[in-house]
Amino acid sequence: MPMKLIIANWKENPDSLEDAHKLIKISNNFKLDILQAVPYIFANELAKENTEILLQDISKFENGSHTGEVSYKMAKNIGIFGSIVGHSERRESRINIHGDRDEDINQKLKNLLANDLVAVLCVGEEVRENMQKVLELQIVSDLKSIDTKFLEKLVIAYEPIWAIGEAALRAASAQEILESLNFVKSSLEKKFDKEVAGKIKILYGGSVDENNVEEILKIGVCDGVLVGRASSDPTKWQKLLEKINSI
Ligand code: PGA
Repeated sequence: MPMKLIIANWKENPDSLEDAHKLIKISNNFKLDILQAVPYIFANELAKENTEILLQDISKFENGSHTGEVSYKMAKNIGIFGSIVGHSERRESRINIHGDRDEDINQKLKNLLANDLVAVLCVGEEVRENMQKVLELQIVSDLKSIDTKFLEKLVIAYEPIWAIGEAALRAASAQEILESLNFVKSSLEKKFDKEVAGKIKILYGGSVDENNVEEILKIGVCDGVLVGRASSDPTKWQKLLEKINSI
């Protein structure tokens, strides 16, 4: 099996820098392709011991009067590798008053990619029946006028909202993942040409754990996984990486 990309999204975890170091230490014990999206407050410290640290979101602005925001320039200057953009927990208005709109996401992607940073774009539907409609819309608007020369740094994570986080019904089945990733791939090929689209990695995220990761990674079109809850629990993270390592 070719090397697959593993992205950890710690979300609002862990509670201490000490525990954050422990998670990084676990990852560093494996020769796998792992990027870890960490809380802002730990990013500077962690970037000193692991060069592949991501942020979980990034400001759409370059700098200025935007209280609480962190810019791509700040990230780049401390050696951050890139950022997740458009996670469903940022698109919704529960955390972020207006929620991230597609135009905000588009701007964030442009800033990251033009500055040689990795951008992990999350897309996904609320209910399975709307999968094609939502993915098509998000891909078209989030990637509007993105320069194709930067696409090697773009990763797309298909994360159906119904399969994500504490409220998840279940992980998507291998068949559902296959259908959705194929749909993402063909939408990208429609938008860009086939060769260019082929450079974009497509991942699956949503309730990935040590029990289902093998089946998911064996799906040919799946270039990797984005792991939420299981990535900030040291025991689960260790087991998950051991499982991947054994495939
Ligand atoms: P989960 O989250 O693995 O906890 O379902 C994935 C994500 O939200 O990125």
